[in-house]
Amino acid sequence: MKGLRIMVVLCIVVAMPLAASGLQFEKKAKTIDELAKMYDSTQCKSCHADIYSQWEKSHHARPLMGVAGGLMMIPVVKSSAFAVKDPKQATLKTFPCFKCHLPQAVANAEDSVAVELTEALFAFSAEKATDKEKADAKAKVAKLQITCLVCHNEKAITHKLVLGKPENGVLYGNKDVASHPDAAYKTVKKSAIMTQPIFCGQCHGTGPNFEFDYPVQCATLYGSYQHNYLSNGGFMACQECHMKKVNGMADHLIGPDFNDKKATGELLSKSIHLDVQTLGYQWLRKAGTLIPMVVVNTKITQDAGHRIPDG
Ligand code: HEC
Ligand code: HEC
Ligand code: HEC
Ligand code: HEC
Ligand code: HEC
Repeated sequence: MKGLRIMVVLCIVVAMPLAASGLQFEKKAKTIDELAKMYDSTQCKSCHADIYSQWEKSHHARPLMGVAGGLMMIPVVKSSAFAVKDPKQATLKTFPCFKCHLPQAVANAEDSVAVELTEALFAFSAEKATDKEKADAKAKVAKLQITCLVCHNEKAITHKLVLGKPENGVLYGNKDVASHPDAAYKTVKKSAIMTQPIFCGQCHGTGPNFEFDYPVQCATLYGSYQHNYLSNGGFMACQECHMKKVNGMADHLIGPDFNDKKATGELLSKSIHLDVQTLGYQWLRKAGTLIPMVVVNTKITQDAGHRIPDG
């Protein structure tokens, strides 16, 4: 009997990490292709075409490419504290960046995915890399995206102790949909945070990430939102400014798109204001010598819900 009880306790302990959070698959992804397929957004495209085409152009659809296709993870594996000599040495821990840039890798990838990514980054930056090798490496990295399922499942519940973890095969949105017509995701449940700033704050950062053996700091914008916007009387949610409705649906471009210089410029000129006040006068320093003087007061203000730029 005693042996049995110990067995039961052991089973519970072993089962806990498996029930970690969000989507569960029979096996974790061993390759980039497997991981991309598990979280694929194209399965949502046929019915949510507008949202898909907005998302496709967004920074969230290219979280390892940065601005203008820059492959920003190269310095991580080449010259940071996480650098490796040989791509084979890479593990998921080589990329603390995955916490926000690719959360599905933390949840559902094996170290071999980090090795394959590092091989692509080495191939791209090799001195003698041909154009074809570079293009292939880039195409591989581009498959890793913050997809519909990352936001509408993995990141949809923050207060898990009370609300439970995101369930397998369920989507989370603004409302309950009892019979969602997708083959794999037949239910949509209302998420408590989808329209709340805390949803974005999970990735948009408050400061250094101390949980890593070598703490990294990237996005800090959510900190700025809390300490320099809400505290000054601001009350808009991120979504209200960044996901305004287009044809009745929340805009998934979630701009700015820094690759679109024209649109970014227009957005900035709308939201940054230069207020100039001038006063011209003459200074009678000595009888008969009038010196022309001018006072110029400038004030630059902006309407964003946080400092810009961030980071
Ligand atoms: C076969 C068509 C179809 C597919 C495929 C599909 N959806 Fe839907 N989805 C719908 C319809 C129709 C509704 C609206 C249901 C309603 O309003 O009652 C909906 C509703 C939703 C909602 C809730 C809307 C809200 O207001 O919050 C979310 C979130 C959602 N879908 C996400 C997805 C994601 C993510 C995928 C891919 C994994 C997907 N859908 C695939 C047809 C589809
Ligand atoms: C706390 C979450 C978080 C972590 C951890 C994180 N990032 Fe970021 N990173 C973001 C977010 C969110 C943005 C975009 C928003 C911004 O710049 O304010 C971003 C932007 C960037 C950018 C600029 C690209 C662009 O399009 O603006 C680079 C480069 C970058 N991160 C590299 C890294 C690297 C390399 C690591 C790991 C060493 C890392 N980040 C870790 C959240 C994070
Ligand atoms: C899963 C993590 C995650 C979530 C959740 C998330 N973001 Fe991001 N976001 C990122 C990362 C990573 C980038 C940077 C991608 C890149 O390298 O260009 C980014 C880029 C952006 C950008 C483009 C500007 C830039 O610096 O790249 C905006 C705007 C943005 N996010 C706003 C939001 C808003 C608003 C929400 C909430 C509705 C949100 N994000 C939710 C991770 C996330
Ligand atoms: C960066 C996180 C993020 C990604 C990626 C994302 N969504 Fe959303 N989605 C949201 C948020 C946040 C809302 C709620 C916005 C609001 O109502 O203000 C939302 C709302 C929706 C809605 C309801 C829209 C409405 O206005 O009624 C649908 C449907 C939806 N998403 C489908 C998708 C599909 C399909 C994809 C992939 C092509 C996708 N989402 C990718 C964060 C995301
Ligand atoms: C009151 C409206 C407003 C609110 C609220 C708001 N933003 Fe912004 N955001 C803006 C404007 C305006 C810009 C500047 C556009 C530009 O840079 O082209 C911006 C820029 C950004 C950028 C690009 C930053 C950079 O480095 O240039 C990111 C990322 C972002 N917002 C995310 C968020 C997130 C996440 C939240 C919530 C925590 C949020 N925003 C709340 C209006 C808002």
